[in-house]
Amino acid sequence: MKEVKIGLLGFGTVGTGVYELLEKNREVIKERIGLVPVIKRILVRDPKKIRSISVSPEIFTTSFEDILEDPEISIVCELMGGITPAKEYVLKALQKGKEVVTANKAILAEYGDEIWGEALKRQRFLGFEASVGGGIPIIKTLREALIGNQIRSIVGIVNGTTNYILTKMLEEKTDFKEALREAQKKGYAEADPTLDINGMDAAHKIAILASLAFGSFIKASQVYVEGIENIDLIDLNFAKNFGYVIKLLAFAIKHKNHIEVRVHPTLIPENHVLASIRLNYNAFYVTGDFVGDVLLYGLGAGKEPTASAVVSDLITAIEFSFFKKKPFIKYPLTFDKKRYKIKP
Ligand code: NDP
Ligand code: HSE
Repeated sequence: MKEVKIGLLGFGTVGTGVYELLEKNREVIKERIGLVPVIKRILVRDPKKIRSISVSPEIFTTSFEDILEDPEISIVCELMGGITPAKEYVLKALQKGKEVVTANKAILAEYGDEIWGEALKRQRFLGFEASVGGGIPIIKTLREALIGNQIRSIVGIVNGTTNYILTKMLEEKTDFKEALREAQKKGYAEADPTLDINGMDAAHKIAILASLAFGSFIKASQVYVEGIENIDLIDLNFAKNFGYVIKLLAFAIKHKNHIEVRVHPTLIPENHVLASIRLNYNAFYVTGDFVGDVLLYGLGAGKEPTASAVVSDLITAIEFSFFKKKPFIKYPLTFDKKRYKIKP
């Protein structure tokens, strides 16, 4: 059976998850799509590093050119994180005519107009399901299932690390720093966990969702952001005594002539559905003009759920590339920067 060769950029938490999923579910995927996705090369910083899974050492490279210039590799999957050099590599891969899948919310929330624009110009597939909500199919939901709606609002818990910390602090009285250490050990936190704690990771995600929902490119720097760094156990207990829980919420709300996009710790009544979202789970409460309210819930961070989202995009990239399946809305949307004013 024909193999589809993939170049992986990064072999950390998510990269190893993708490798494991493709190994474990190879037969199921083969049966479903009639092709075999194979990871041909993996770009890492340190090929000698001891990894959580063993793979043949020849697969590793420290040169992006080995992947870019390999004509057999038709799909580049960026799982490195950070802006530099990830953004440059994604753009170069698109320019070279490869389909691209990325889990990198930072590059999309800062340079999405350029990156989506490049994919559109080159008529390439650009998948980014894993950039928001880990394993929850929020991107496909907005771009496909709810495409006929005008989205009125998205409110959600969009960061697993901070939700894990707040849960552990409240339920087990775990110290903030210790809870963060646990989240890092479990692979939920960003390489620089400050981005989780200070709300920027959530800002990246809500900027991407707001851009998709409202068709107007919204940068992370336009989002009002407050993190959880000043939340103490005393605050969580105080809220509890009044029947509330504190969650880091992200909001994207459309008004008549402006969009409101913000991230901050919020008091939620204990009986509200978002109050029950614990640990590294995320939830998205989406309201559309015809569908009404939709709630999506699932694991928002971690190796396995994120790998699930990445592989879903890899398979769409294969459909796009090999079966010339070009459904209407698979292309990035064109953004009208001036359509709305952005207000916190
Ligand atoms: P890790 O830090 O675990 O892994 C990063 C990998 O990229 C490592 O293998 C590292 O190599 C490699 N790498 C980093 N910089 C370079 C470079 N300059 N050159 C070559 N290789 C490089 O990150 P994660 O797997 O956790 O995250 C990857 C992406 O997925 C990020 O964009 C993140 O935001 C996103 N994401 C993460 C989720 C999670 O739960 N962890 C969930 C959803 C999205 P080496 O191993 O040699 O150091
Ligand atoms: N650091 C992110 C989080 C990973 O904790 O939600 C998932 O995007």
